[in-house]
Order: sequence, then C-alpha cells, then structure tokens
Amino acid sequence: MDYAREILKLKKEKDALILVHNYQSEEIQLIGDILGDSLDLSRKAKDSDKELIVFCGVSFMAESAKILSPEKTILHPVREARCPMADMISAEKVKILREEFPDAAFVAYINTNAETKTEVDVICTSANAVNIVRNLPQKQIVFLPDKNLGRFVAKQVPEKEIILFDGFCSVHEFLYVKELNETKEHHPNAIVLTHPEANENISNLSDHLFGTGGMINFVKNSDHKEFIIGTEEGLTDRLRREFPEKKFFALQPRIICENMKKIKLEDVYLSLLNLQYKVELSTEILEKAKAPLDRMLELSK
Ligand code: 13P
Ligand code: SF4
Repeated sequence: MDYAREILKLKKEKDALILVHNYQSEEIQLIGDILGDSLDLSRKAKDSDKELIVFCGVSFMAESAKILSPEKTILHPVREARCPMADMISAEKVKILREEFPDAAFVAYINTNAETKTEVDVICTSANAVNIVRNLPQKQIVFLPDKNLGRFVAKQVPEKEIILFDGFCSVHEFLYVKELNETKEHHPNAIVLTHPEANENISNLSDHLFGTGGMINFVKNSDHKEFIIGTEEGLTDRLRREFPEKKFFALQPRIICENMKKIKLEDVYLSLLNLQYKVELSTEILEKAKAPLDRMLELSK
C-alpha cells in the first residue's frame, strides 16, 4: 500500500493536522504538516483550529499537546514511543525534593511525564530554558531531570543557584570525544553544533549548543558551509534536505533515538484510520499540569 498517499487522503477526509518532531524518520517528516522542535510543536498544537491532531514524536510531546488543548483529540500512533529520560523523575520524587528545597522554583524540562508536570512551577524546552530560569523571581532553582541541560542553563545564568538532578538522555550522553575529534580532523572547517543534552566533555568541545530549532535557525543565518551535528540523525536529515548547498556531518555514526524511530508510516495510517491511540489523562492531571505549561508559553513569548 502507498501509505503516504493514503495518509494524505485520510488527513483531508478527517480534517486532521499532523505534527512531526525533528527526530522522526524522513518518511514521517515528509508527510507532516508541521515539522519542529518541542516548543514549536506545543505552540502549534495549541494554536491550531483543527480538532484532530496526530502527534509523531515521543509520548510526553503528545501529552503536552493534550494538556494545552484538552478539548482536542490528540493521537499518538505508537504508545511505546516514550522518552526514557522522562521516566527518570516522578511526581513522588518532586514532592520529596520540595521538602528539601522549600524556597526553590521547580523547573521541569518538557521531557517529563504529565504526572510529574503537575508538581512543578514551570516547564521549559531546550529553546527557552535559559530565558525561563533567568526570568523567574526565585534565586534558587531545582532543574529537573536533565543534568546536562541544567548545567548549560547554570552557565548562562550564573546569578542563580541551580540544583541539578541526575537525569540524562542516553542518546546525547553517549557521544564520544574520540569520535568528535576524528570528525573534526576530517572536516577542520566545520562548525560544531550540539544539543545541550550532550555530556559536558562534548559540550565543551562544541562551538554552539542549541536545541533542534536553534540549530536550524543558526544554519539558515550562517555564512558557514560545513557543520558537524551533535544530535539525533533526523535533524541532520532535515538539514541536508533543506540546505542542499551546505554540508552536514554527524558527530559520530548512528546517533539515533530508538523511541522516536518507532513510528512508521503504517502506524500513522492506522492512527488516522482507527483514531488510535487517543491520549487520555485524568481531569485532575490535565488541570494541574496545564498551569506550568501555560506559564512556559507565557514566559517564552
Ligand atoms: P528539542 O526541543 O530541541 O527539539 O529537543 C527535544 C528532545 O527530545 C531532544 O532530545
Ligand atoms: Fe528522549 Fe533523548 Fe530521545 Fe530526546 S533524544 S526523546 S531526550 S531519549
């Protein structure tokens, strides 16, 4: 079956919107209405007038869309496509930390489950984390769960006391200096762009740290012709497609988020055909998790 054609037909018939994260495989990127980073996609899910949204990304992204637009039907084509980092922190752990740091603002990365979001003050993505932390009135900040993004924020906002948690993304934690140095040797003129989820050694050797949306903007506005990309290969595929006159090299071979890649064209087709799988969250979670997400959108205007 020509799934791409059938998806486009069904999408029209059902008046649906397909949102696609930059780490999805190319076949999914090509059938999306909107391709973007976590911040972009949550804004677009909220602002769209479509009642039916298919979210091709990991589950916290589809959940965030549901929390921001509880009246819409949000479909997540593969339930098992989950971000392991999101499972490194829980609502229970946040409650315990709150007792330890009663005066701190609790900032959670959007890569958290809906229940965790109910216990924090504000959410951030890699695109707005620095500004959000900078603009909070509290001096002490507990940043959850990504220690690498938290360390990046702490460097940019030295006036705050940032308390880090020990979460990490296994895709970006396991980037290696030896591989980066070899890639640099082969491409000495390339600029190194890395995601702030990367480990400290890699971050220190990179020219710039950006979320996926920031990398695309940087490349668009840069006169440089060669880039080494330290993030998931879906983004590198997108850059190669959109900027054919420039050259992109992966920091190391096969930087892949297996969870993002679980969604295939057939799953998107079945999702639209059978309206599966609907993101369903309790009213209590929907209500309590909405405040920190709304606050994020407010603070990152
Ligand atoms: P972005 O918000 O930069 O797209 O990142 C999402 C993510 O999961 C990175 O691993
Ligand atoms: Fe989670 Fe890392 Fe995959 Fe992003 S790349 S969704 S942080 S596991």
